[in-house]
Amino acid sequence: MKIIVTGGAGFIGGNFVHYMLEEYPQDKIVCLDKLTYAGSLETLESVMDNPNFKFVKGDIADRPFVYKLFEEEKPDVIINFAAESHVDRSITDPDVFLQTNIMGTAVLLDACRKYGITRFHQVSTDEVYGDLPLDRPDMFFTEETPIHTSSPYSASKASSDLLVLAYHRTYKLPVTISRCSNNYGPYQFPEKLIPLMIANALNDKPLPIYNKGENVRDWLYVRDHCVAIDLIVRKGTVGEVYNIGGHNERTNLEVVKTILKELGKSEDLITFVTDRPGHDRRYAIDPTKINRELGWEPTTLFDEGIKMTIKWYLDNKSWLDNIISGEYQNYYEKMYGNR
Ligand code: NAD
Ligand code: DAU
Repeated sequence: MKIIVTGGAGFIGGNFVHYMLEEYPQDKIVCLDKLTYAGSLETLESVMDNPNFKFVKGDIADRPFVYKLFEEEKPDVIINFAAESHVDRSITDPDVFLQTNIMGTAVLLDACRKYGITRFHQVSTDEVYGDLPLDRPDMFFTEETPIHTSSPYSASKASSDLLVLAYHRTYKLPVTISRCSNNYGPYQFPEKLIPLMIANALNDKPLPIYNKGENVRDWLYVRDHCVAIDLIVRKGTVGEVYNIGGHNERTNLEVVKTILKELGKSEDLITFVTDRPGHDRRYAIDPTKINRELGWEPTTLFDEGIKMTIKWYLDNKSWLDNIISGEYQNYYEKMYGNR
């Protein structure tokens, strides 16, 4: 099987590439990535010489380029991780989110129609369901929860989901969609909560928590997400949506305190800052469908996964330092300078 993995130089796509090359030595992986600020070839360094792996730099929204790639590679399966993925950036600059997340997905779908594939899998997010109240711990997102987006990021992801489903219904394209909760683990860009807090704590910088830190996320160790996507692609039902998450809910304040404790740093580093506009209160996934139909369940609980993640950042300090030392400083100043 030949698989095009888009966005494979990013966090989850990168972890997926490593996972697939380890698990399926008979398969070929072609990684298509634009190498935006969020993509890094360092993430793929250890697989660059693998004969079953090929890296191609390009934009999923560049139609002639994508068609040529399909013509040359003749892939069986496309797994679309490529996206602009950070909510805060979508609030300050929505345009690129529409271009990559919606137009880019449309181009990939058209290429799949034109050249034929056995599966197009869209890596989506639980953010398409909006949020849940903090005082209703009995409520969870199921696949039937209505789409109700909050940020330009989630609106762009919901739009691409709708396109994917439309191409299935109208053109019978063999698609699947997964909607996962918050991931954490190796290679996550330090704009997201967990790696940002680890990076700041390591450098004794203030840890900026939005509002009072009461918002809740449902954390999933990235490898569990990779296993779930692989299962859906191989055994999932065409045309279906699968939620992925593992009942590991934590408030942001709890997450940050855990990181500080693990690193032996003082809670005095915590700083409460102005809230994110439109900030979603709580995400929580009901994974009954993927568990019942495909037998998936998470294997790493948060208390263990966060230790593994912190250890990875300590062991791979140069990966983190290379990001923090560049353009990231301007981003950080813009987002947090006057907050
Ligand atoms: P990321 O920002 O770490 O990586 C995105 C990758 O896509 C980068 O390598 C980037 O260079 C590439 N890319 C961006 N625009 C591109 C374009 N136009 N053409 C080709 N490549 C492009 O993102 P991530 O956190 O790894 O998320 C991957 C996917 O999973 C996204 O679709 C995201 O919506 C979804 N998702 C993320 C989470 C999470 O917690 N991070 C949870 C659920 C779903
Ligand atoms: O649920 C899946 C989604 O999870 C993915 O679709 C997104 O791509 C991914 O970025 C993530 O979205 P969030 O907005 O939940 O993740 P983020 O890491 O940006 O923030 C997590 C929580 O932490 C959120 O409540 C905001 C808060 N936060 C975040 C940052 C960066 C802070 O309090 N301070 C911060 O500096």
